[in-house]
Amino acid sequence: LTSNFSLDPRVDRERFLQMAEEVAALAADWFDGEPDSPVLARLDGPTLRKRIERDLPRDAGQWDEILDDVRQDIMPGLRRNGNPGFLAYVSASAEPVAALADLLVSALNQNVTAWRSAPAAVEVERQVIGWLGEAIGYTGAAGILVSGGSAANLQGLCLAVARTDAAREQLVVYVSEQTHFSIAKSARVLGIGHVRCLETDSDLRLRGRSVAEAIAADRAAGLVPCCIAASVGTTNSGAIDALDELCEVAASNGVWLHIDGAYGAPALMLERYRSLRSFVARADSISIDPHKWCYAPLDVGCLLTRHAELQLEAFSADADYVRVEQTESIEAFSFFDRGLELSRRFRALKLWMMLRYIGFDRIGERIEEEILLRERFDAAVQSHGELELLASGLSVSCFRYRAGEGEDSDDLNREILESVLESGRFLLSPTRVRGMFALRICVVNFRTDEDRLDELVSSVGVSGVRLRG
Ligand SMILES: Cc1ncc(COP(=O)(O)O)c(C=O)c1O
Repeated sequence: LTSNFSLDPRVDRERFLQMAEEVAALAADWFDGEPDSPVLARLDGPTLRKRIERDLPRDAGQWDEILDDVRQDIMPGLRRNGNPGFLAYVSASAEPVAALADLLVSALNQNVTAWRSAPAAVEVERQVIGWLGEAIGYTGAAGILVSGGSAANLQGLCLAVARTDAAREQLVVYVSEQTHFSIAKSARVLGIGHVRCLETDSDLRLRGRSVAEAIAADRAAGLVPCCIAASVGTTNSGAIDALDELCEVAASNGVWLHIDGAYGAPALMLERYRSLRSFVARADSISIDPHKWCYAPLDVGCLLTRHAELQLEAFSADADYVRVEQTESIEAFSFFDRGLELSRRFRALKLWMMLRYIGFDRIGERIEEEILLRERFDAAVQSHGELELLASGLSVSCFRYRAGEGEDSDDLNREILESVLESGRFLLSPTRVRGMFALRICVVNFRTDEDRLDELVSSVGVSGVRLRG
């Protein structure tokens, strides 16, 4: 029994179309359910495991049964990242148009290793990379799509290291105590000897002076300053490091400037951050994650760089089975010579379709709306007698309930968090700001609105009153 269409002879074109319609309906049900379903799955570990576990499926199954199982056993065990009350981490509500594009990505099954393997896919990826750079003022750059911010930061650091001949253990990377952990992790993976985790100013920003002082001290100790990792939008508080100062320090010390814009870089599209673009343009590399503030479904991150030649220095590889025979420069291009991976998905198509359909202007508009939502939320916190704003920036706000005399503020706010999550209406992240336990929201969610945020303020207030008895 064979079929030219599928490994399974039951699936021909007609059947495939029917199945696609059923899958699309299930996805639409999921999107429809976002506003009202609980944010968190309510199943405990053992129950969920029991629901999912099945014997090795040796025989062909029934499609209807499989879809029912997805609907009844898997979907209820999933967190709803697109729920309007999902305000944790930095995690976007997936844009449905891009989800459809993802189906096509798998169907086309392009392996975007090199131009000769996937010609149009390579051109689409180059185009999308160009658009992302242009949108944030980092024009004419080289780049590569990767799985997310961690992978982009790692590859950024690979370039910084490729520029120096010094021994890895002599190298130093400069971050702030607020920098995402993926930078320090990358440094560890690369065998970089030292990561200087520097204090921030009162706005939780890394300043040029502390980096300059650390660089001078390291030089005097015979070490080799390698890379400053600045953040445009820290995970914790949405802070934007002092880019003007860090650009100067990087330039005057000949040190690589990497910007972790995994979360915040798309905000550079906005008028209010336009003045930062001239500094961003001077960075040696920058990470930007379309799967965060461009609302694309996972997984797609991007590393942009001014140093195409260093991509080759860091990553070029040769073997008989991958040797590129083409001599024409467009056709000789290979991504596997410019990044860690050989086999790579056609992520670019999902972005190409979504970005063209939605348009960068609408994405920028929504980012602006989310910053305004956060500013309005801050104002509500500040005008609420029992709440205290601890830090905020971009679409992140950190706050807490004021504890009374002799009360443990951290314990009280931990309990408030638990009680707010129990309602199923919200997911917030716990964090710490200057040592204080804080409740944190991050709006990267086109379904979040004023009403849901007002409800949060009141829910935290009510929980606080109840818990304090
Ligand atoms: C500023 C920043 N950098 C890097 C990352 C890591 O990104 P990813 O989770 O896509 O690896 C995050 C994740 O939230 C982030 O907020």
